[in-house]
Amino acid sequence: MDKKWWKEAVVYQIYPRSFMDSNGDGIGDLNGITSRLDYLKDLGVDVIWLSPVYQSPNDDNGYDISDYRAIMQEFGTMEDFDRMLSEMHKRGIRLVMDLVVNHTSDEHKWFVESRKSKDNPYRDYYIWRDAKEGKEPNNWGSCFSGSAWKYDPQTEMYYLHLFSTKQPDLNWENPAVRKEVFDMMNWWCEKGIDGFRMDVISMISKPEGLPDGKIPEGGLYGDSGCVNGPHVHEYLQEMNREVLSKYDLMTVGECAGVTIEEAEKYASADGKELSMVFQFELVDLASGTYGKWTDKRVPLKDFKRVMTAWQTELEGKAWNSLFLGNHDQPRCLSRFGDDSPEYRVVSAKMLATCLHMMQGTPYVYQGEELGMTNAYFTELKDYRDIESIQYFHEYTEAGIYTPEYMMKCLMLRGRDNARTPMQWEDSHQAGFTEGTPWIRVNSNYKEINAKQQLSDPNSIFHYYQKLIRLRKEKPVIVYGTFEALYREHDQIFAYTRTLEGEKLLTVCNFSEHVAEMEIPEEFQKNAECLITNLGRKDFGKKVVLKPYEAFVLYRNL
Ligand code: GLC
Ligand code: CA
Repeated sequence: MDKKWWKEAVVYQIYPRSFMDSNGDGIGDLNGITSRLDYLKDLGVDVIWLSPVYQSPNDDNGYDISDYRAIMQEFGTMEDFDRMLSEMHKRGIRLVMDLVVNHTSDEHKWFVESRKSKDNPYRDYYIWRDAKEGKEPNNWGSCFSGSAWKYDPQTEMYYLHLFSTKQPDLNWENPAVRKEVFDMMNWWCEKGIDGFRMDVISMISKPEGLPDGKIPEGGLYGDSGCVNGPHVHEYLQEMNREVLSKYDLMTVGECAGVTIEEAEKYASADGKELSMVFQFELVDLASGTYGKWTDKRVPLKDFKRVMTAWQTELEGKAWNSLFLGNHDQPRCLSRFGDDSPEYRVVSAKMLATCLHMMQGTPYVYQGEELGMTNAYFTELKDYRDIESIQYFHEYTEAGIYTPEYMMKCLMLRGRDNARTPMQWEDSHQAGFTEGTPWIRVNSNYKEINAKQQLSDPNSIFHYYQKLIRLRKEKPVIVYGTFEALYREHDQIFAYTRTLEGEKLLTVCNFSEHVAEMEIPEEFQKNAECLITNLGRKDFGKKVVLKPYEAFVLYRNL
């Protein structure tokens, strides 16, 4: 397997609006990030993925960009950016920028021009269609509820928006659009950034003729079929030739709907497209007709099946990314672990052990290293996220869900659960701001905060620090092959990793009950315990694991 710096790295995702506010306006900013770089250095991460900081009217918190070469005023200036980048590099931390090019803001100058007239030079930068029998051009639904088409009275045509009405989709079939995007990417690379996380990149190529999609039973809209569209690999290979291949970058594609087979193309080891992709099979396991809006939990057997398949089937062909949460997902501890006071700490450490000992590049989402939990806001007025608010109205007005059940879904699945301010201290607004934050601070900040954990050697923070350090010390954690054990066990997820002279055994109890297992013979003697979340010392033949217990054994072969 080819060695690469990004295979050996651990990435930390910053959602800038909620990370650290430096000037008391309640909004996180670039100077706030710069002021906390030592904290991240201490944690040991190698790369920061920064959610969008470009100029934006913030319909979708920066994922609606009106100028790709300017910094959002609320976040600071280009000078602040340059200083932040150089302070990161000084500490040996690389920067991966979010690249949002499936769509722009409707306030981007390309779209302002495009909507003016049918013969405007920018008209074909976007996807315009006539009405069909007085209605939308097809039955596609937007990912944020409602139709994916918006009627524009100026030219009496519809434009496509797979996300909000303020996020019109770019027309990637137009070579001029591709050139603009590649020029812009080169411009950022020349500034010295180290990579891109590519927003919904699997959706940039739309199916020929934009045909109606299948409406799921009980659903309201048809599927757009834009995921893994006909030309997506062509476009990414062109991007690779025009931009990526000229620099030493790390690239990760956000690929909703990607299968293992498709991932092998996007992230193929020949380096013709991207370094790796984010797969959604795991986080979408409970999703159904009404998308992610459900109160179902994912059974361990499904979690194991999906994780195991991605680990074993990409082996030698493509590189995995490893994540359990991000700014679009609920807090992973609340979702896959147990955030009750009794098991919060131990289950957060167990989940981290399970993920960080796998093959692939691990991503830590801000606050995960502290065991931050869902916000569980009970009132719609506390939510800020356009997706949560729009779906609440759509599903309750259509009579699909009762308001009570939909609110429960928001509490379990809404994106704002992961967007509450970073909990730095147990003082005013968790030390995030001196003013009033743009979204409420999670009420548990007095118990869960960085200051407390930095002073506690047994904290979740220090456990993550150790997991990250182990990855640097033991090549088997990075490059070893994966094999699942006890596949039928319904409480335990256990697996080995093997590389030349070394072997590793990871054991995790995903349940709140004790669980029995037998340690494989080769680890019963001559094995060293690399990490344990409950201080276990005894690794005899039979072990009885406590609730959420995890440990890792290591031996030379
Ligand atoms: C991606 C982003 C999400 C955003 C959407 C539209 O899924 O991660 O936050 O809302 O794309 O840009
Ligand atoms: Ca601020």
